[in-house]
Amino acid sequence: MPKWLKDAVFYEIYPQSFYDTNADGIGDFNGIIEKLDYIRGLGCNALWINPCFDSPFKDAGYDVRDYKKVAPRYGTNDDLVRLFDEAHKRDMHVLLDLVPGHTSEEHEWFCASQKAEKNEYSNRYVWTRSWGESAQGFPYVGGESERSGVYLLNFFKCQPALNYGFYRVDRPWQLPVDHPDCIATREAMKDVMRFWLDLGCDGYRVDMAASLVKNDDEKKSGTSAIWKDVRRMLDEEYPEAALVAEWGVPQQSLKAGFHMDFYLNWHLNGYSTLMRDYENHENGENHSYFKKDAGGDINRFLKDYLPQYLDTKEDGYFCLLTCNHDTNRPRLALDIPELKLAYAFLFTMPGVPYLYYGDEIGMRYLDLPTKEGGYSRTGSRTPMQWDESKNLGFSKGDAADLYLPVDPAPDAPTVSGQENDPDSLLNTVKALLALRHREKDLQADAEFSQLQTRIGQPFVYRRGDLVLAINPDGSEKTCTLPAAGEVIFSIGSAKAEGRTLTLGAQSFAVIR
Ligand code: NOJ
Repeated sequence: MPKWLKDAVFYEIYPQSFYDTNADGIGDFNGIIEKLDYIRGLGCNALWINPCFDSPFKDAGYDVRDYKKVAPRYGTNDDLVRLFDEAHKRDMHVLLDLVPGHTSEEHEWFCASQKAEKNEYSNRYVWTRSWGESAQGFPYVGGESERSGVYLLNFFKCQPALNYGFYRVDRPWQLPVDHPDCIATREAMKDVMRFWLDLGCDGYRVDMAASLVKNDDEKKSGTSAIWKDVRRMLDEEYPEAALVAEWGVPQQSLKAGFHMDFYLNWHLNGYSTLMRDYENHENGENHSYFKKDAGGDINRFLKDYLPQYLDTKEDGYFCLLTCNHDTNRPRLALDIPELKLAYAFLFTMPGVPYLYYGDEIGMRYLDLPTKEGGYSRTGSRTPMQWDESKNLGFSKGDAADLYLPVDPAPDAPTVSGQENDPDSLLNTVKALLALRHREKDLQADAEFSQLQTRIGQPFVYRRGDLVLAINPDGSEKTCTLPAAGEVIFSIGSAKAEGRTLTLGAQSFAVIR
């Protein structure tokens, strides 16, 4: 386990929308470099950058055309290397986004694979043996290649599935996982990983990490074997490199060698009940735990979270996020006081927290037409709002040329608008992250346990030797502490007298 993860706090950057330094309307690496001090000042000491490689951008870059070349719109490979160096100077780490399950249909491997004549890449993707042969229920495309066969898709139509083999082979066109051509796919992906690690990248966020081997068993044994092999390579060659899975099942991903997995926003799971419970009800009813007076119940979260945390805490980190580029911004359903409490919780839990750019100022979800395969996700991908200047400081280009529009609201949140207000969301985030860095008991490893979870009462929990309490309701509440203690941090109002803690409306406290 890379030691730096113990006190890491990640900042996710959607590079299109972070900061544009050449006025072409789209973010770039130089923009990220210019803002590193801002990110460090927030308390984030690690970055996850969404795919920034050459791509036709039919899925925002998750359709990679060349894994070893950055997309010209963001800069050059040298610019990215400079970003690694500048980050390291500030004691920050940078994860790139690895997309191992599929490429763009314009990747040179796929172009070769489509050829009628057999070649090195014929089996790099999954093909049936003739144009009329069914793909056995897998999504596929036929009729577009000179080769007679249909090929499997991994996600959108633009994303042919790379071939890591089938765990259960039940058609002649399905290769077993130990077929040399399937091993070659795995080795090609390791070669891509080494390429950027050698240039200074600190690891990867792995897209659809569970998707590699087809017809896998329930435990994902086939796919897990590949990640165990990758982890062996990292341990031997790059022991400080970190891997986080987009998987959402830590009992599988962390046992397969990932250092971290995301607690993803899945329908009705525990995480979804914290900030986006409206997605769990057809009529939009919202009992999110952090929504004031909405009848939220922290047990809905705990019932799902705890077994996963307890089963995997020795293996790695099950990580909480404010949001990501696929999820509605939390501001869609929570106002600023509610967001403060939600972040207080997310940033004081075990594992490694992830802050999505713009959530620190409460950027809104915008209702926008789709861009680069974003669909409903597009509204969470709009430009970062820095100040009151043109395009809210994102770009000096013409508003009409921006990758996506900035929030048109007169009260659109900005960094400069919040910087000098001690009570702003931005400064609350800074205070919370500074607290986390100060207190080892709030970092990735310290034990978590629940102390009081009754509905209508503050939620009280323990991290190491600290006790934490949250009251999301609109009225004052009291609760009993396990022992008398002193309030060392609070949001809202908190008073400890003996073993009694009084928490004002929408308040949070850390007690030692
Ligand atoms: C998950 C990514 O987060 C998402 O943005 C993308 O569309 C799919 N994987 C396909 O790569």
